[in-house]
Amino acid sequence: MTALTDRATAVREPALLGQTVVVIGGSSGIGLETARSARTEGAQVVLTGRDPERLARAAADVGAARQAAFDAHDPDRLAAFLGSLPAPVDHVMVSAGGPYYAPIADMDVADACRHVADHLRLILEVARYAAGSVRPGGTLLFVSGTGARRPHVGIAVTALLTAGYPALGANLALELAPVRVNVVAPGFVDTPLSASLLGADLDERREQLRATLPIRRVVGPADVAALAVHLMVNTALTGATFDVDGGQQVV
Ligand SMILES: NC(=O)c1ccc[n+]([C@@H]2O[C@H](COP(=O)([O-])OP(=O)(O)OC[C@H]3O[C@@H](n4cnc5c(N)ncnc54)[C@H](OP(=O)(O)O)[C@@H]3O)[C@@H](O)[C@H]2O)c1
Repeated sequence: MTALTDRATAVREPALLGQTVVVIGGSSGIGLETARSARTEGAQVVLTGRDPERLARAAADVGAARQAAFDAHDPDRLAAFLGSLPAPVDHVMVSAGGPYYAPIADMDVADACRHVADHLRLILEVARYAAGSVRPGGTLLFVSGTGARRPHVGIAVTALLTAGYPALGANLALELAPVRVNVVAPGFVDTPLSASLLGADLDERREQLRATLPIRRVVGPADVAALAVHLMVNTALTGATFDVDGGQQVV
């Protein structure tokens, strides 16, 4: 880098200066790191999560403007929260939730159906909100995943949902334009969710990924956050699904 470009970078205005970023599921992992990156780029952030203590710690950590503890799958609480946001909002990210793992033989079908309905309702309610309350050129960002792109025993329900995201994102982008809609699809990301799913196997999984991924390291939440912030800033991007998996799918 020359002295000139060094100076240009040093004086660059933060990319989200004065903007508001709402992260539904922002008290941990990918959502929290996106909030941190958005703050670094000058945004005000609003965080939600279920556990009030974890949320309060996260909000203090990143200097959130506001926090709201509720279950995003509770339609009344979600509607009340969205209705309380001062419009227009610039960006809304949905990273709340998690995968549904169960082999068909052991599956509680009613529970699986509830998971799908909760998941879809959250996306649709946020999309309906965005139609009137996200500014033109602002974004909706949904976090999906790549994990279910290859069949495995036990991931059918999550496979169904993740397979639907690219179509949903593209259709919403058309309907909600000029609001932009994009999907982020991570592979394995080293977050508290991954730790809780893998338990004692976490270190072995990290080692395996370091040895096999083309990037020779484990993807962290900051990697996904960098992509998320880019999608907020780059006004050319809408209707697309962006994988962030360190090359996991090409191995
Ligand atoms: N980590 C991975 O390897 C990976 C890979 C692919 C996709 N993903 C997806 O990426 C998203 C974020 O995952 P993560 O790894 O960052 O998980 P995480 O560390 O557990 O963070 C999830 C966040 O969402 C909140 N949350 C979860 N369920 C919620 C609900 N019903 N209502 C409101 N808030 C809720 C959590 O707080 P509370 O628990 O307090 O509510 C937390 O703030 C998830 O949808 C996950 O399926 C993750």
